[in-house]
Amino acid sequence: MRIVLGVGGGIAAYKAVLLLRVLREAGHSVRVVPTPTALRFIGRPTWEALSGEPVTADLFDDVDQVAHVEIGRRADLVVVAPATADLLARASAGRADDLLTATLLVATCPVLMAPAMHTQMWQHPATVANVATLRSRGVHVLEPADGRLTGTDSGPGRLPEPEEILTAALGLLRARDLADRDVVVSAGGTREPLDPVRFLGNRSSGRQGIALASTAAARGARVTLVAANVEAPLPSGVEVVRVETADELRAAVLAAAVRADVVVMAAAVADFRPTSTAAAKIKKTPDGAPPVIELVQNPDILAELAADRPHPGQVVVGFAAETGDGSATVLEHGRAKAVRKGADLLVVNAVGDGRGFEVTTNDVTVLDGAGRVVTGASGTKEQVADVVWDTVLARLAQTSPSPS
Ligand code: CTP
Repeated sequence: MRIVLGVGGGIAAYKAVLLLRVLREAGHSVRVVPTPTALRFIGRPTWEALSGEPVTADLFDDVDQVAHVEIGRRADLVVVAPATADLLARASAGRADDLLTATLLVATCPVLMAPAMHTQMWQHPATVANVATLRSRGVHVLEPADGRLTGTDSGPGRLPEPEEILTAALGLLRARDLADRDVVVSAGGTREPLDPVRFLGNRSSGRQGIALASTAAARGARVTLVAANVEAPLPSGVEVVRVETADELRAAVLAAAVRADVVVMAAAVADFRPTSTAAAKIKKTPDGAPPVIELVQNPDILAELAADRPHPGQVVVGFAAETGDGSATVLEHGRAKAVRKGADLLVVNAVGDGRGFEVTTNDVTVLDGAGRVVTGASGTKEQVADVVWDTVLARLAQTSPSPS
């Protein structure tokens, strides 16, 4: 495989030399792309001698070969080690001010970043936000190791050992298990307009759906993300269709589903919409009588997808955000919904009290169409998404074996 090893300008660059060796020993060809600052720590001859390939750091070297496009396009994996605070910031902002950041913008393969910096820099809200942005786009950012840092300090911020980075890198190279699959993911929450300024909406941030889209793309799938009013940053490398209402979401999902192997309905769809939308802003009346808003039920898109599949092997996945109540627990509500909806899998999570919506972690139980527990997952929304795709893949293996 062709690996691009991006090296950031930090003291841990010396460990990237060892990483280069283990990547080469594992049989991969490695193109090293240091930042100009990284070359102040470890010089070009070291990288060239150990990789056996030319090394450039500047966009103005080898201009005739349009190096960043060529290097990014041909890569099967990009590993960035050390990913300094500055490099994480530039990558999350989409800067292209050196060959490495420009290459990152061109690459569509998986990207693995191994951060290294002082603890305060790692824990600074700016770095935390940059890492969250990169992860939401499908970039795999390792946690730094905890231990001795430069000088006398110690804490989280050490570059993970080369063997650990190698293991993560090899895992990503193996994990293109959704290659050649078409998937559709809906995310966010629909808004049903009452008048030009008001709507009936819900609290879905869209993060779980976005994590499903970005992890599927990282695993090689062609992804259509139908995004309803999402707040979180959208991943790169996926086709995004923006929608507002349940009707628009239904049209977009049904259109994309025609060629899909998998449809995942992670969006929170409004069950009801106003019968009509007022053309002008609804005003208070002089007598203080509240307006009567008549609602009509929206179509159940998930049930429709499950009942009417464009091809028999298609796997349909629903989500159920539940709160327990006097009549049933979260799981009991989930079981009843799994049977009612007819989807192959239903991912059930408890919401309310700071769980599920508007948070970055999730705790779910995956049920099959008969309401039986298939598996559970908890962790970041990306980790949950990976478990959902693992479960979907097991289904696909039964219903529609891999095209490749
Ligand atoms: N869903 C849908 N169309 C709707 C409502 C929901 O496709 N009109 C999908 C959601 O995207 C999700 C699943 O159905 O995948 C469950 O959504 P949820 O709101 O929990 O279910 P409801 O059918 O609304 O059930 P209830 O309100 O009775 O809990």
